[in-house]
Amino acid sequence: MEAKKNVVLTLENVSKSFAKVETDEVTHALNCVDLTMHSGEFISLVGPSGCGKSTILRLIAGLITPTTGKVCVDGKEITEPSPERGMVFQKPTLFPWLTVRDNIGFSLKMQGKLKGNEDKVEHMIDVIGLQEFREDYPGQLSGGMAQRVALVRSLINEPDILLLDEPLGALDAFTRMNMQDEILKIWQKRGQLAIMVTHDVDEAIYMGTRVIVMDANPGRVVSDITIPEPFPRDRSSDSFVRYRNEILNKLHYGGKGQNA
Ligand SMILES: Nc1ncnc2c1ncn2[C@@H]1O[C@H](COP(=O)(O)OP(=O)(O)OP(=O)(O)O)[C@@H](O)[C@H]1O
Ligand SMILES: [Mg+2]
Repeated sequence: MEAKKNVVLTLENVSKSFAKVETDEVTHALNCVDLTMHSGEFISLVGPSGCGKSTILRLIAGLITPTTGKVCVDGKEITEPSPERGMVFQKPTLFPWLTVRDNIGFSLKMQGKLKGNEDKVEHMIDVIGLQEFREDYPGQLSGGMAQRVALVRSLINEPDILLLDEPLGALDAFTRMNMQDEILKIWQKRGQLAIMVTHDVDEAIYMGTRVIVMDANPGRVVSDITIPEPFPRDRSSDSFVRYRNEILNKLHYGGKGQNA
């Protein structure tokens, strides 16, 4: 394995607006977001639909640029996508004409690194439990299976920054918990910076060394909570429950109504 690379990712006063084509209105997807993240952190991003979570990931991936402000890796502004920043999209995007195995090995092949790394592809197929489906095409898979393939297809590149947009959203509860542990194992082994969007507060706490809570209209960061607990975490521990209450309160679901 290559030596671990330490990176610092910064969002400096980042705003992103989208003009609506049919009217003169503008959507303020993000407003004045300031964040600093480092290798070794696992950042969970939570917040209501439309608060700009995917927009943050797409800015970091280099798929879009900010309206104002800067997104930088080690002080260098991000202007385009790079294999150093691997993205798993909210909707799984697999190549329909390639089998499970070839989808997973695709980027290694494009980089001329597949030869000698075939066992890595097989290991990833084992991790997601799709041994029997390795020669099947995406159209033959369930939504959850396709999502698992999309996930390991990014993990196999061992990017310095791993961007996960609700990577486990389509999975049943048990597969989801297994995959949470698999992602954590891979992240712990490599110590890269992982940034994961999730709608599931328990998942955010179970996996995150930091939970960033956002709100909408305009999209912004309202809270940045460090979770210094060791892994593996106990979902029923007192501290876990305390974090859950704190985050649900920030999301206005604290049990005392909308104004809690
Ligand atoms: N390409 C685009 N063109 C126009 N508006 C956009 C575009 N991308 C995002 N938006 C708007 O920006 C806001 C933030 O979108 P974003 O996809 O980042 O939200 P999100 O927090 O990921 O939501 P969800 O939880 O539903 O995935 C939304 O109001 C959305 O409609
Ligand atoms: Mg989204």
